[in-house]
Parts: sequence; C-alpha cells; structure tokens
Amino acid sequence: MNKTIKLLEKLSNGHGPTGFEGQIRQIIREEITNPEISIDTDGLGSLICKIEKDKQSPKIMLSAHMDELGLMVRYITEEGFIKFQTLGGWLDQSIVNQRWIIMTKSGNIKGVTGIKTVHVMTETERKQIFPKDNLFIDVGAKNKQDAEERLGILPGDPISPDSSFEFLNSDNLLLGKAWDDRVGVALLIETLNSLDSKKLPNNVFGSCTVQEEVGLRGAITSSYTIAPDININLEVGVAGDYPGMNPNLAQEKVGAGPSIFLHDSSMIPNLKLRDFCIDTAKNLNIPIQFSVISGYGEDGAAAQKSFGGIPAINIGIPTRYLHSHNGIIDLNDFIKAKMLVKNLVENLDETTVKSIKSFD
Ligand code: CO
Repeated sequence: MNKTIKLLEKLSNGHGPTGFEGQIRQIIREEITNPEISIDTDGLGSLICKIEKDKQSPKIMLSAHMDELGLMVRYITEEGFIKFQTLGGWLDQSIVNQRWIIMTKSGNIKGVTGIKTVHVMTETERKQIFPKDNLFIDVGAKNKQDAEERLGILPGDPISPDSSFEFLNSDNLLLGKAWDDRVGVALLIETLNSLDSKKLPNNVFGSCTVQEEVGLRGAITSSYTIAPDININLEVGVAGDYPGMNPNLAQEKVGAGPSIFLHDSSMIPNLKLRDFCIDTAKNLNIPIQFSVISGYGEDGAAAQKSFGGIPAINIGIPTRYLHSHNGIIDLNDFIKAKMLVKNLVENLDETTVKSIKSFD
C-alpha cells in the first residue's frame, strides 16, 4: 500500500507538460519492475511496454497518458515578465495567481501568475475574468536580459504547475496536480507489474502516451505501433459530487468505485467490451459507476479509430477539480480499479476477444 501511495506521489509531483514528458518517461522506466516487461518508445515519444506470450494470441493494449496541462514560454517582455502559450484546455481563471515551474535547460525556475491588485480595480474589473492572453509569469527578473542570462529562460521552455502531493485530512483522499492522467499511468504500471505471462491468455501492451491534452496525438502513433485487438484506456473520471455540479453534468462520486464511460464527446465504447467489464466487476464484487458526459476526450478514441476499428473502453478514477493545480482522488477507487483491470486483462482470451470483435 505504501508503495502505491509513493508511486502516486512521485507521478503527481513529476513535471511533464504536454510535449515534454521526459521526466515521466523516466519515472515509468524506474517503476516497471516486472522482469518480463520490455520497454520501447514509438517515434513520438510514447512508451510501449510489452509482455509477450506468443505471436498468435490476442494483443491487449492498456493505455494512459503521461502528459499534463502546462504552459510554454512564448516570449519575455523587455521588463523581464514571461508571456506564455497554454498547453491543453485551461480555464482562464485556473491560471491566475498560481505558482509555476519553468523547466529551463539549466534547471527549474519558480514563477507566479500575478494580476493587478483588487485595490486599484474598477467595479467592472472586479467581476471580470482575466483572459489568459493578458496574463504573464513573474520570475523576479530585473529585465529581459536577466531572465535570459541569469535564469536561463528561453522561448519554448515548458512550464508546469507547482503544486505538491499531500493527503487531504484522511488516509485515503489524495490531493495533488496532474491526476489527469498520472493516476491512469500509476494504474497501468501497477497492473503490468502484477502480471505473469504464464497466466496470461494474451499479449499485454502498456502504452504510456504523449500529447493527449492537445488532441490524443501519442495515442494515434502508439495504436499504430502496437496494432492491438482491444484497448482499455485508463483515465480520470469526472466527479460530480461537489457544489455547482449535478448528475446532468457528471454522475461519479469520489470513493464510490471506478467508472466505466458510456459516452464522452470523443467515444462510445464497444458494447460487448462494456458488458464484459460490467460482468467482471460484478463477479469480483467491485462497485462500479457509469459516466455519461457530453464533453471530455480520451486516448481510447484514437485507438478505436486506428486501422479498421478496434474495440475500446475508458475506465476512470473519479476526480474532483480536473485541469487545475489541485485535484482530489480516493485511494480506494484506485485499488478497486487495479483489481478490475488486472482481471479484465487476465480474462481476455482468444474466444472472448473474437466475440467482442464480432458484430454477428
Ligand atoms: Co486525461
């Protein structure tokens, strides 16, 4: 258990904005300890982990994305303030007054997104949202030259949220950044580590993808690299259990078990695969939740549309406050999801896969 928490902490604290996932790739290489697993990368940087049984057995692909929402240095003003490009779907008001890490060639530089103080705002300004294009990061530089030469900041440097993992007033609620999708990455790592090829009726691939937050880019290339028969995508679920949310928007509750997505804007799952997941969970006595949401997007959608079409499903860990510096998940949901995913993988034999792939 301790090991699981340590892994979640390490992955949440790790910095890997979209397109700059190197640090997360490194953590995964360290944490995959099952000697049967070989690790490779595809041409875009996604990690391809593999437990191969034989060439004839079906290929099951677990996937989870390594990247997190971030920013990128666009240019430095003459006064030494950092203007930025957003990486991924930020809400403007989630960017304001936060701490950030600028990942330069020579190390991490701290910064903060400031806005003008309330004391000098007009009545209208006090009610307004500050659009991201007007924002900047203050790194305490004297001027542009100081930012470039002393701090080593350059256009194109990635910027990651600065927010540390901690327990939220309990021993099961975990507060941190980047649960989207490091919780999926942790699930993928622990599932792969728990597998034994002698007990597997299939070949298992773990695809840790890059650049999900800007359009499932890594999932496209890794799906074509692996050519799976089935894809089980591991992601954050969308919790709807706090003020301002209601079941019309999102149905999941943190702590009530892993979720199965029945609809998001990128994918409708394969129905036989959906039923296989529901039956497996029932047999294991794992409580599951369903998610029907109108937005969102996930890597399963890219896998589903690769080659001639591949059965895919998205399994979620309910998460509050996605795409911000502070997300909340429940360790118990993670543990139940791990049991479910391991069992799904171990039971996807040739006959089951054939039946899932058939529309007769
Ligand atoms: Co995600």
